[in-house]
Amino acid sequence: MKRPIAAIAGTGRGLPAHVMTNHDFASIGIETSHEWIMERSGISERRVAKNGETTCSMAADAGRKAMEVAGVHPGEIDVIVLSTATPDRLLPSTAVDIQAELGATRAAAFDIGAACAGWLYAMTTAEGLIMSGTAETALVIGSEKMSAIVDWKDRATCVLFGDGAGAAVLKRSKHGKGILSAYMRSDGKLADLLYRPDGGATTPMSVEVLEKRSHLVRMAGREVFKHAVRSMADAADRALDGARLTGSDIDLLIPHQANVRIIEATAKHSGIPMDKVYVNVDRYGNTSSASIPIALNEAIESGRIKDGSTVMMVAFGAGFTWASMVIRF
Ligand code: UT7
Repeated sequence: MKRPIAAIAGTGRGLPAHVMTNHDFASIGIETSHEWIMERSGISERRVAKNGETTCSMAADAGRKAMEVAGVHPGEIDVIVLSTATPDRLLPSTAVDIQAELGATRAAAFDIGAACAGWLYAMTTAEGLIMSGTAETALVIGSEKMSAIVDWKDRATCVLFGDGAGAAVLKRSKHGKGILSAYMRSDGKLADLLYRPDGGATTPMSVEVLEKRSHLVRMAGREVFKHAVRSMADAADRALDGARLTGSDIDLLIPHQANVRIIEATAKHSGIPMDKVYVNVDRYGNTSSASIPIALNEAIESGRIKDGSTVMMVAFGAGFTWASMVIRF
């Protein structure tokens, strides 16, 4: 087992106030039912950003709380790494807006795009910066305003996603605790199974794109499901191998919250009973790269992660990308 280089010093979450339940879809003309959504995904409600809530504002909310818990002043942050698939603007990065909002004047700030696996990619990047001596203290945030990019006329996708942010302060490890292993993989051949076809630099936004609604998320749900189950299993195996642990050593599994059936399959693969798995997909839906840091923060606050707990996090998303990490608290 490697000596931990970086450890989490504090976490926070930032969620929109507005709750949209499965029953609320009827009011926007979506033909679905609470029963269908619950049975297929395990989602009961999600948060939707309103009244000026943005990827930046939710991220800053989560980041502020994480710094407070860590006892870190904004001026001590060396780097802000934001994972997001929903930047507020295409230029500059949303991370620099967060930097300005928080007053983290000494920080370098940049965005990472790895979809739902993005926060684990961001954590691994921040760990590398700490390992190399480039940074001492990092603020690692996942923030997503999925409601801005889902097609509210497509019942196969719009019922699945939600908005929110989660953050962690990552610092050089001083007590032999922290990140024990990290793993990242991608497979770009499968990009078109979950993507936004148009609206980027190749086919910029136009009346035609708007009419086709092809700037919004398209997903081949069943195919994505199969790959998610397979890749999350691979990621869990690699994280455990890297930390020289087995499933029975894990006190809490925090999987990406996309679908309770994918979560159950991942837990089963690693031999982790469901009472050692954190699930909040019922309350927030799929918040993409914010899902793991939101769940992590809730798990710490509710006492499910204690001093000495060993936690495994596993994620899968568009790209495809998948990643995992084992942390000793
Ligand atoms: O964040 C990382 C990436 N995302 C994921 O991991 C998501 C992966 N995929 C999934 O979670 C599941 O595939 C879904 C929850 C999206 C869908 O579940 P499914 O069991 O794969 O259903 P399906 O897409 O095959 O659709 C089954 C039926 C279809 O009707 P027919 O063709 O069988 O008559 C759909 O038209 O359900 C219909 N359907 C709906 N019915 C009611 C699709 N969406 C809805 C809906 N309400 N919202």
